Parts: sequence; C-alpha cells; structure tokens
Amino acid sequence: MSAAPDEYGVFGHPVSHSLSPFIHGLFARQTGQAMRYRAFDVAPAEFPARVRDFFAQGGRGLNVTLPHKIAAVEVADELTARAAHAAAVNTLATKGDGILGDNTDGAGLVRDLCDNLGMVITNRRVLVIGAGGATRGILAPILGLAPATVVIANRTAERAEALAAAFADLGSTQGVGFDYIEAVPFDLIINATSASLSGEMPPIPAEAISGQTICYDLAYGQSATAFVRWARGQGCAQALQGLGMLVEQAAESFRLWRGVRPATGAVLEVLKERLGAV
Ligand code: ATR
Repeated sequence: MSAAPDEYGVFGHPVSHSLSPFIHGLFARQTGQAMRYRAFDVAPAEFPARVRDFFAQGGRGLNVTLPHKIAAVEVADELTARAAHAAAVNTLATKGDGILGDNTDGAGLVRDLCDNLGMVITNRRVLVIGAGGATRGILAPILGLAPATVVIANRTAERAEALAAAFADLGSTQGVGFDYIEAVPFDLIINATSASLSGEMPPIPAEAISGQTICYDLAYGQSATAFVRWARGQGCAQALQGLGMLVEQAAESFRLWRGVRPATGAVLEVLKERLGAV
C-alpha cells in the first residue's frame, strides 16, 4: 500500500472559481509528486485558526487568495524578502516547526513577461495602473529588471504617490493621478486595478500606447477584459490577460513546496483551451 499523499490547498472566499486545484493537479501528474490539492472556502474571521489547523494536521502547503493575502502575513512565522516587500502572502509552507510566508505573484508575472513572451524590461518605460495590493506585489520584481522608469497611475493619486515613494530605493518610480499620465508611449502597460472585474476601463490617454506597446492585464476571464479590449482598440502590439502569470506563480509555489519546478507551457495551453481565453 502506498503512503497517503501530502496535503496542499488554496484558501479563499469565495474559492469555487479557483483554477489552482486544476493547475496543481496537472503539475503533480507531470512531475510524479504524491500530493493532493484542494480548494477550501474559508471566511475571513476563521482564517488564522483554519491555517494553523491545516498545518497542525500535517498539511504541507497552502495558496492564499482573495481576501486573505494580507491576513496571511500575520499567520506566517517568517516571511521571504519578496513577501515582506509585497506586504502580502500568496503561499504558505512548512519551515521547521513554523510556517513560512512567500509571495510568488511578482515572480510569476516577470516569468510570463520575460520567459514566455520574450519581453525586455531593462531600460524600458513601464506604466502600472492601480495602486492597491496587486501593484504592491509586482513592483519589486519589475523594478529588479531595471526599467528606465515605472509610472504608477491611480484613481486616488495619493495612493500612487505613496507606493512610488515606498519603492523609490529600488529604481525610478513616479506616482500620479490619471490626469497626469504623460502623453508619451510606454513600452509596457500593466493593469493592476480591479476595474476590469466590473468591466470598467480607467481613463488612460490614448497617447500612452503605440504600435510597440505591450499591454498586460493581471486579471483574466473567459472573454477579453475591458482593458484588453481597449488596448487592442488603440492598436497596441499585443494585449494579454493574466493567465500566464497565474500558471507561473503556481509553478513558483510548487517549487517552494516540492523542490521541483514544473514545465508551464503545456499547462497554460490547456487552461487557455479550457477557458476559451482570447
Ligand atoms: P487589489 O488587492 O486587487 O489591488 P485593492 O487594494 O482594493 O485591491 O486595490 C484596487 C485598485 O483598483 C486600486 O488602485 C483602485 O483605485 P483606488 O485606489 O482609487 O480605489 C483601483 N480601482 C478599482 N476600481 C476602479 C475603477 N472603476 N476605476 C479605476 N480604478 C479602480
């Protein structure tokens, strides 16, 4: 008889839409790892106790999704540097007797941009729309690639200014309100607002896009997001949804847990087909 598989999962609320069990199931099969990965709907009030229970009962690792990414910082006994920078945790793992908190979102985005899409960020102009948790999670990995500048534009200008100041030691950053976005093309525009989810499009000047601009929405859906539709309408080079980032952040979590990095290309193709993504 074979031993019981190691237990993993994702905690979210709601969580039924999560693609993580599917992705990690494919990774486990591909790498021959004996593990089981399930989705758990956990209400915010129960989150810390449920995490502790999961690990106390022998669970080996968790992904953490909305709305728990900030609460997970408190549950962790130790944080990786990138999780501390992001002030948010999307991956928990056992470490010694304690729980390690990591954040693989930014690394996942950078992998998708650089490895899958072949983008060069060094010396390029980057515009990030939004100044919430999603932006905080990606700024350090993006700045680590030494772009010429990262402009953070947000509906509430003060939040963009505060984030730009908080990350200024890592590279050239500027925080502005939407009215103050320079009307000069950017090489890469990342939508990190939650506006797409409600089908809205932040007011970005058309001059920010040229035929060379790559546009990337951290959100993804079955049809093109409002941002992707808008970007294509402006004639950008390429507009993508965040499915690649989703698969790559999962692969980074999987590596932390199992010490082996799964190949992501085929998994991304399966997901695109499954979602009918465009
Ligand atoms: P997340 O963790 O997903 O980033 P968040 O911290 O609530 O969530 O941040 C949401 C981001 O989306 C913010 O930048 C928010 O702008 P404000 O800071 O001005 O609130 C942005 N956002 C949400 N809905 C938006 C909309 N309809 N238009 C423009 N920006 C929007």
